[in-house]
Amino acid sequence: MPAEGVIVTTVADFHRAAAAEPPAVAGVRLDGVVKAFGDLPVLDGLSLRVERGETVAVVGPSGCGKSTLLDLICGLATPDAGTVAAAPATLMPQRDALLPWLSAEDNAALALRIGGASRAEARAAARPYFAPFGLAGFERARPAQLSGGMRQRVAFLRTLLAGTAVLCLDEPFGALDALTRVQMQKWLAEALRREPRTVVLVTHDVEEAVVLADRVVLLSPRPGRVVETIDVDLPRPRRRGDHAVADLAARALRALGVDA
Ligand SMILES: Nc1ncnc2c1ncn2[C@@H]1O[C@H](COP(=O)(O)OP(=O)(O)O)[C@@H](O)[C@H]1O
Ligand SMILES: [Mg+2]
Repeated sequence: MPAEGVIVTTVADFHRAAAAEPPAVAGVRLDGVVKAFGDLPVLDGLSLRVERGETVAVVGPSGCGKSTLLDLICGLATPDAGTVAAAPATLMPQRDALLPWLSAEDNAALALRIGGASRAEARAAARPYFAPFGLAGFERARPAQLSGGMRQRVAFLRTLLAGTAVLCLDEPFGALDALTRVQMQKWLAEALRREPRTVVLVTHDVEEAVVLADRVVLLSPRPGRVVETIDVDLPRPRRRGDHAVADLAARALRALGVDA
């Protein structure tokens, strides 16, 4: 934080100064949010609370406004009505947005570079995560040399290294095959146990939601609003095959109007 009277000169200083401002809320709080694109109503009076340290999954049909909701939380869009308050939040976008010409470690450390760190500093911060993230030996690999699951781990690491209190994950495993997806769910549960954050996880896999989240918020078809919230009071680690997981997943499907 610059001393009083000192002019903020670098992007890094700016980020540090911004981070020193206490956010209005420790987690995420949306009240009565309305959002339309032109004539298309996308969110219709959506309210959502995510407490600090909580993982909340948001499940809803395609096009109901889930990605829009994450954009609002991350400050990439503004609501037409209602209020959005959130601690600083980073988006892991729905499509793998790794830069093909950068190595895995430079992709992972991108936010630090943008924040003003030198390449050496940024790499030094990213490297210790490669082994626990199952990426050891792939530090210098380009995205094209990585499997789908590895690319998603690098993208998640990049989101984590941005250092914000809140992580918004937009269908992080949506493009993966079924087996890799299950492995990645276990991996994410473990990663969040090691590095607890406030997480908003968008998915359309109800079992994934129940395995990973403290609460599951179910949205209506567009325009999205909350139809039901399910508290997941199950011990961790959870497995997809567990009866209690399957029961809550079936309840979520019924609330979404899907006859399971
Ligand atoms: N920037 C935009 N301009 C116009 N329409 C948009 C824009 N972003 C999203 N939409 C539309 O808003 C609706 C909700 O989109 P989105 O939030 O991506 O839904 P979801 O993530 O739940 O599938 C969709 O019909 C989509 O086509
Ligand atoms: Mg989406």
